[in-house]
Amino acid sequence: MKITIVGTGYVGLVTGTCFSEVGIDVTCIDIDQKKIEGLKEGVMPIYEPGLEDMVKRNYEKDRLHFSTKLADSVKDSEAAFIAVGTPPGEDGSADLKYVLAVAREIGQNIEDYIVVVTKSTVPVGTAQKVKNAVQEELDKRGVNIPFDVASNPEFLKEGAAIQDFLKPDRIVVGIESDNAKKIMEKLYKPFLLNGHPTIFMDVPSAEMTKYAANSMLATKISFMNDIANLCEIMGADVNMVRKGIGSDNRIGTKFIYPGVGYGGSCFPKDVKALIKTADENGYNMQVLKAVEGVNEAQKSVLVKKIKNHFGDDLSGMTFAIWGLSFKPKTDDMREAPSIVIINQLLALGAKVKAFDPVAMHEATRDLGDTITYAKDEYDTLVDADALLLVTEWPEFRVPNFNVIGKLLKNKVIFDGRNIYDREELREAGFTYYGIGLQ
Ligand code: UDX
Repeated sequence: MKITIVGTGYVGLVTGTCFSEVGIDVTCIDIDQKKIEGLKEGVMPIYEPGLEDMVKRNYEKDRLHFSTKLADSVKDSEAAFIAVGTPPGEDGSADLKYVLAVAREIGQNIEDYIVVVTKSTVPVGTAQKVKNAVQEELDKRGVNIPFDVASNPEFLKEGAAIQDFLKPDRIVVGIESDNAKKIMEKLYKPFLLNGHPTIFMDVPSAEMTKYAANSMLATKISFMNDIANLCEIMGADVNMVRKGIGSDNRIGTKFIYPGVGYGGSCFPKDVKALIKTADENGYNMQVLKAVEGVNEAQKSVLVKKIKNHFGDDLSGMTFAIWGLSFKPKTDDMREAPSIVIINQLLALGAKVKAFDPVAMHEATRDLGDTITYAKDEYDTLVDADALLLVTEWPEFRVPNFNVIGKLLKNKVIFDGRNIYDREELREAGFTYYGIGLQ
């Protein structure tokens, strides 16, 4: 079985590589020649645990190919996945120009039946636009080649994308014909041996499912952040409240961890896009608007605590920051709360010394030389007035608090993810601030 994946970004590369892992012949296409050459040599454009080995192995076995020529591979593919970027346009809505350009190129080159699958997160109604674009090109060529469109949203978490792909909770596929259903079933069968389902539905419902899933998860987080802030005021401990409510399996234990706000490439973008789609169609998504508002405010909670402790003028002070990426195990800095926190500290006159296990290079794009990049987590503490834990990388979980206490000028820790034990730290003489507890 042969397929083409267009776009070797995060989603495209993980998808293509995992399909090749089960023996499918996959060609990954990108217009970026440098990226393609790099991939052939095993240079990954993104950081994702396990990806590099898997790419190299399947490339060597000759079932994962990299090319800039869509025309060649699409001719004998049973399916073409569109996984190119949909950057937010000026008004916040997803810009479909890359998706539709790929659709046109597919239409210009196919010679036989194919399923054109949208994998990028696209607004409801996009598959229809893709269909029109392919058909227009076929009409221009004056040929009558049958094809179907399908929508197959991804639910990959950065840092766990390979595992998520190989052992998915479910596969959602929007289809409009039995032919497309058969092909998609065949493709995903090897990943569903654990009994989890492929849920087939109509195309608009599949497109909506992606937005609804991410918006629901973002809602859980913002709700918990709201509860956490109220816990602080009322003298409750959100860690206890979280355990208390999470044990009700209607609520569940996941995505109810308060923190410094959600970031990344999906939640912020998808929440905004769904609000916008609703607005455009005359519906007011009240809950989601609040979710977004709470998240924006939450990025400021650590700096508020710092101001309460040290006062409004932080000039002459230095803050150590552990973790820059929007979450652990990724170098992704998109919408990372760390950027907001750091810019607020700088605006108050403070200096920042930061360390992140993998995201420091990425971080220079947003933060440039406005901060000092330390060689490791302890190096950030030298001459620093306090420590801020912003991203809960595993290596920050059990640090040597004796060393921290000696290096810091003041024994003060602002824990933006509630990973440390408040009592233990207070006994060791630290002033400890968490989220949602006193
Ligand atoms: C998310 C979805 O989980 C995934 O299904 C979708 O395909 C893409 O978006 P990702 O952005 O990689 O994946 O990260 P995720 O692990 O879901 O975390 C998102 C954000 O929420 C992070 O900023 C994280 O720190 C935050 N978060 C998560 C919390 O603040 N509290 C939680 O309890 C869980």
